[in-house]
Amino acid sequence: MQFKSSASLVRWLLTPFVRVAPTPVQVVLLLLLAAFAAPVFLVVEAPLLLGLDQAWSARIRPYGWLLHLHAACGVLALLTGPFQLVPGVRVHYPRVHRVLGYVYLSTIAIAAPVAIWIAVFHIEPAERLASVAQALLWLFTTLAALVAIRATDVATHRLWMARSYALTLTFVIVRFTTEVLGFRFPADAGGAAAMIWLSTVCVVLAADAIVAFWRPAARPAPRGPAARRSA
Ligand code: HEM
Repeated sequence: MQFKSSASLVRWLLTPFVRVAPTPVQVVLLLLLAAFAAPVFLVVEAPLLLGLDQAWSARIRPYGWLLHLHAACGVLALLTGPFQLVPGVRVHYPRVHRVLGYVYLSTIAIAAPVAIWIAVFHIEPAERLASVAQALLWLFTTLAALVAIRATDVATHRLWMARSYALTLTFVIVRFTTEVLGFRFPADAGGAAAMIWLSTVCVVLAADAIVAFWRPAARPAPRGPAARRSA
């Protein structure tokens, strides 16, 4: 490839970033996600997963490797999700969208069944049903998104992906509320299980509302000579 000037080289190098640049609303949403996720992972989860809390490490010892597998896959799902939802990636780099889509799907195909196993065999009975239901919904919404796109039904795929990622976010929301803010429902109001049910219902409704009312426009894919130049 030849460039007439250094300016055209710089323009060529910047093209992918310009194409996938999130809209201002998406920037705000990403900053919000970072603002919730950073304290959850840096302050709460990292010390647990690195074994710095001896009581916690002793409690999870019988299923420690499963929990680490679940956590690693969950974090990967959390990180890949935003790329899937940015329209610029879908429009200009469909292959990246497809590969990341399968990465996202695989992480949930591992993390959700592992969560069910841990919930059934290792956690408090009070939280068991809510956790199993949430993990099943997580798996179901993700598989529904896959089935929809295999049938080339883009609108339905978008809706189920939004629901799936909303459920991925429940981890951050629940841990932020309970561990960072220190808010917990009293036991006679349902305790941790009530928090899981409430967050599940709210995030799925929020995802539906966003898909119904907000359709961000992607920068159109280049056509004709412009497409050949930038290919
Ligand atoms: C929405 C579906 C999910 C369900 C049903 C679920 C379920 C569970 C369960 C049952 C545990 C064990 C808790 C214990 O041993 O006391 C757990 C722990 C954990 N999960 Fe998930 N999880 C989900 C999503 C995620 C996601 C998306 C992430 C990562 C972003 C994640 C990261 C972790 C981590 C780091 C732990 C261990 C530390 C802790 O309990 O706070 N999970 N999860």
